[in-house]
Amino acid sequence: MTKDSTNKKRRVHFDPDNVDIVVEQGANLLETAIAAGVHINASCGGNGVCGTCKVLIKTGEVKSNKTEKLSEEEYKHGLRQACQSRIITDLTVYVPVESRLEKSILSREGKKVSEALATGWRFKPPLSKLFVELPAPTFADNTGDLSRLLRGLRQRYNLHNITVDFGVIKKLAKVLRGSRWKVTVTTLITAAKPRTKEWRRPRVINIEPGDTRKKHYSLAFDIGTTTICGQLLDLNEGKVIAESIDYNGQISYGQDVITRIAYSQKRGGLKKLQQTVVATINGIIRELKAQSQINVKYFGHIILAGNTTMTQILLGLDPKYIRLAPYTPIANLFPPVRASSLGIKVGRQVYLFTFPSVASYVGGDIVSGIVGAGVYQRKNLTFYMDVGTNGEIVIGNSDWMVTASCSAGPAFEGGGVKHGMIASDGAIEEFDINPSNFEPEIGTINSAKPKGICGSGLINIVARLLEAGVINQNGKFNTDLPTKRIRKGTDGYEYVLSWAPETQIGKDIVITEVDIDNLIRAKAAMYAGCQTLVKSVGTTCSDLEQVIIAGAFGSHMNVEKCITIGFLPDIPRNRFTFIGNGSLLGARLTSFSRDLLDDARRVANMMTNFELSENVDFTNNYVAALFLPHTNSEEFPSVSKTLVKLAKSKPKRRIKV
Ligand code: FES
Repeated sequence: MTKDSTNKKRRVHFDPDNVDIVVEQGANLLETAIAAGVHINASCGGNGVCGTCKVLIKTGEVKSNKTEKLSEEEYKHGLRQACQSRIITDLTVYVPVESRLEKSILSREGKKVSEALATGWRFKPPLSKLFVELPAPTFADNTGDLSRLLRGLRQRYNLHNITVDFGVIKKLAKVLRGSRWKVTVTTLITAAKPRTKEWRRPRVINIEPGDTRKKHYSLAFDIGTTTICGQLLDLNEGKVIAESIDYNGQISYGQDVITRIAYSQKRGGLKKLQQTVVATINGIIRELKAQSQINVKYFGHIILAGNTTMTQILLGLDPKYIRLAPYTPIANLFPPVRASSLGIKVGRQVYLFTFPSVASYVGGDIVSGIVGAGVYQRKNLTFYMDVGTNGEIVIGNSDWMVTASCSAGPAFEGGGVKHGMIASDGAIEEFDINPSNFEPEIGTINSAKPKGICGSGLINIVARLLEAGVINQNGKFNTDLPTKRIRKGTDGYEYVLSWAPETQIGKDIVITEVDIDNLIRAKAAMYAGCQTLVKSVGTTCSDLEQVIIAGAFGSHMNVEKCITIGFLPDIPRNRFTFIGNGSLLGARLTSFSRDLLDDARRVANMMTNFELSENVDFTNNYVAALFLPHTNSEEFPSVSKTLVKLAKSKPKRRIKV
């Protein structure tokens, strides 16, 4: 850039969002999009290696590093990787459909879940509102304002040993007199003292003029790597008043926790990530406020569950050592912090609680799910799983629990797959195949024109291709079949799911052998993790009495197809239960019950973490699971039977194994 071109302002217009932003000349285009609120896929966090952030420069000029992720033809047509581009002149930028993150899809309903819920808890929120009417001071009774308040609480509610936040003391004199000595006090009781039944001392965190007991609300959040969900809760009624979900703004800094940690190590990176997640949280709070028409000053506290990396970043704590062996978090339990000190736009009195975690890759979101689903309350042997880039699994019951994180890779979220995409409009989700001519029948999310393949779609496709004999149990195509849909592409053999004219992206959408291989690796990691844990406690997968599947991806999984490819154990189908967002479920229930909030800490302590990356058993199990469904057919008796039956019913078809 020449000297005289520095410090010049440039206007960038993004389509189809139709938003403008003015930035300095030389600014990075991906970061400019983030600042403008335009969500662009950026799986690798701006390192230039994933190729998901391609945008079309319609007018104007950028200075761009051309990487191998951009073909000559794409370059000629004006496509650039946003993360590799610096702004030179005013621009009009079009974000193509395959690079966009559609927000509308976030609220899509999963399959109806039958919730496995914690039971036996009292509806007694950690936060209480108490109304007191105090006598005004006189010469005969000129005790201080604070003593007067504490005396009133003692007399009316039998409350002793109360502590009071300084923020309350600061406004006490004014509020008491301004309200003619009628006030509502908010107290917070968090958890019982360890090993006793005694409750901690209540803490006065707020005082309001008059009687505001009817306005008693709190917030529950699930902070996911991809999405953030928030709920506004009525603490008098014990119900959800409003709910909102958005992409975690950090998504533009990398798709998974590893790329986020890498970004946090750049200069100013941690601060940027922290501010970005807070901006998403504030957007959700604004939305909850708009939906409910409830003034934010009545929001009393926040309970938040997230994985260990997301929690540390939100708290502004360096997550560096989470990524480095032997993978240590800064702490498994953080004290409550004032939400406003993190930049969250709520009253100063609002404390934010984060769920305790177990280890670097088994975080508060899993503990929250275990508490919400009541796994720790029942005797039956339960397998709990939350599937994402990292599949976290827990096996146990009310007496013990073992847990591990399986590095499944991004295939379940559409990553590492040629036409993979997040589950949004146009993602191929349903798939069937005509066994006589091998023509596909596909179904997409919201019935939009096909744009790519989402994680659950990938499972369904591979399962049906296997059943139809189009691929063998190694995941390789049967190239002898009489169909032009199987062909040799740039990444080896592939099957055409949708021809270019039928798609949104104007290209054939295919599934390749590399994609199938990535899925096999992902499902093998999950299944081997399960096998390793059950074996460590002297049981087998067939002993599992209940399987609870949490997470947005889980709610769209087809159990039968997952078993077909060897992802879920081959046990009676009625043992599977879906709970949707387990992390949010736990955060909500603990907002209603201090019993459960206390249990969360106990649950985190009772979970023993297995580090699978160093475990020989896991490695052996993993290698054995790199097959469809498994090298040991006895592990999947019903699938093996079906495959043999299908092979016999089509004698002319050759299945290469
Ligand atoms: S190539 Fe730009 S974000 Fe990955």
